[in-house]
Amino acid sequence: MQRKILVTSALPYANGSIHLGHLVEYIQTDIWVRFQKMRGHECHYICADDAHGTPIMLRAQAQGITPEELIADVKQEHQADFSAFNINFDNFHSTHSAENKALANQIYLANKEAGHITNRTISQAYDPEKEMFLPDRFIKGECPKCHALDQYGDNCEACGATYEPTDLINPVSALSGATPITKESEHHFFKLGDFDELLQTWTRAGHLQSEVSHKLDEWFEGGLRDWDISRDAPYFGFEIPDAPNKFFYVWLDAPIGYLASFKNYCDRTGVDFDEFMNADSTTEMVHFIGKDIIYFHALFWPAMLKGAGFRLPSSIFAHGFLTVDGKKMSKSRGTFIKARTYLDHLNPEYLRYYYAAKLGSGIDDLDLNLEDFQSRINSDLVGKVVNIASRCAGFIKKRFDGKLSATLSEQALFDDFTAQADSIADKMENREFGHAMREIMALADKANQYIDEMKPWTLAKEEGKEQQVHDICTMGINLFKVLVTYLKPVIPQTVEQAEAFLNIEPLQWNDISTPLLNHEINKFKPLMTRIETDKINAITDASKETL
Ligand code: 2FM
Ligand code: ZN
Repeated sequence: MQRKILVTSALPYANGSIHLGHLVEYIQTDIWVRFQKMRGHECHYICADDAHGTPIMLRAQAQGITPEELIADVKQEHQADFSAFNINFDNFHSTHSAENKALANQIYLANKEAGHITNRTISQAYDPEKEMFLPDRFIKGECPKCHALDQYGDNCEACGATYEPTDLINPVSALSGATPITKESEHHFFKLGDFDELLQTWTRAGHLQSEVSHKLDEWFEGGLRDWDISRDAPYFGFEIPDAPNKFFYVWLDAPIGYLASFKNYCDRTGVDFDEFMNADSTTEMVHFIGKDIIYFHALFWPAMLKGAGFRLPSSIFAHGFLTVDGKKMSKSRGTFIKARTYLDHLNPEYLRYYYAAKLGSGIDDLDLNLEDFQSRINSDLVGKVVNIASRCAGFIKKRFDGKLSATLSEQALFDDFTAQADSIADKMENREFGHAMREIMALADKANQYIDEMKPWTLAKEEGKEQQVHDICTMGINLFKVLVTYLKPVIPQTVEQAEAFLNIEPLQWNDISTPLLNHEINKFKPLMTRIETDKINAITDASKETL
């Protein structure tokens, strides 16, 4: 049965560059989406820039440009980076868009109508010079526990204590240096507690990974608190209907940005928005996210959707963080690597394969070990997969006019390769990419062993062995074709080159069991080269320089 699936990755903030940490998620999602499409499903991959909030407003001010100019520049940069990594969004929009404003208002007003919004006055730190309320991270001062100086408003980097900004000793505004005062203001709250029963059921109904739903149990035990969804001017965001100078908090309209981008895409392509978003929709809606934003996606988001009469997500797939060489990415070690810095030196497909080889369905962190990365690419992709084609292609081209034999000499071996299709598909579907890559590489080993044993290069020197050489190399090319079909979601650009070499239409999952016989292939060009150590060093050096 053909599935209809709307897939999202988390929306990147529009005030910074994409780095290798972000790419874990975009690569994971892109592989999954490409896999679904190859299987013949209708799948729409949607994303956008997350364009609102105080940090973006302040950064634009610091650069002497408008927030609109800033987010337009960043959007261009993000899209160029994503496309260079072959992240194939069907639509990339912005939360600062007409569609998002309309949907945010709609969802807010429906929730308000249903009684899920309440107002009350709260006191907050306020910068009297800048004339604005200060988010916790813009207040600095002395830690009340260990007395370290220059600590942020919500936690101490020296001793790890967490506290309220009002607990800081000698607090100052990080924006102006002024001493913050406390000021009252009326805020709008979303009554999350109204959805307690719904959420307790929903979070245990198979939409989340089991470790995630266990984590949520702790939050239910602590009780669901009202969520502050408004911010005072000056703020870069959408003004709340009937509340002048009050704006939606960025996290209110960010997930709505998924729908806004999808709406923008539907209007452009004729895909039916309502069919996907109606409360009784039979389509799927799948969100890939990092484990730090589970609370927003597994509690607030389904509640807001429910309150507005929309469908709820089918699945939320959380992943862990990236470490590099076992540690948090670090600017001083040169491991805080921007997407662009990587691209200046290496083929994006290497990183896609490496992440795939290390990704599973859980929320464990993923380590990019640079030495292991180099050797894994050199041995798996270059040494095993590409090698099969390069060992066979020359003979076919030179001795047989580029034409493959009419029959498969080792049907059983070919069948062994295609028999893995369901098992590999199962792993891909369940985001066990690492397991899938191991199965594929075991097959690549088998193909190389076959060629090693058959020694076409020896037979080629003997008389009367023409047919054998032809058959062996035809087998090799056909085994290669099966392998690249399996790998296509992971290394799409390389496989596109392989398709050109094989002289075939874009491979679909169902093509796996059809061998290429009596078929003319093209001249082989090396699809990939080894990673040399100096490239890795160049990347870490360049990442140190950007400090
Ligand atoms: O954490 C972040 O980077 C957010 N910009 C993610 C937003 S995801 C969605 F809710 F919009
Ligand atoms: Zn401290």
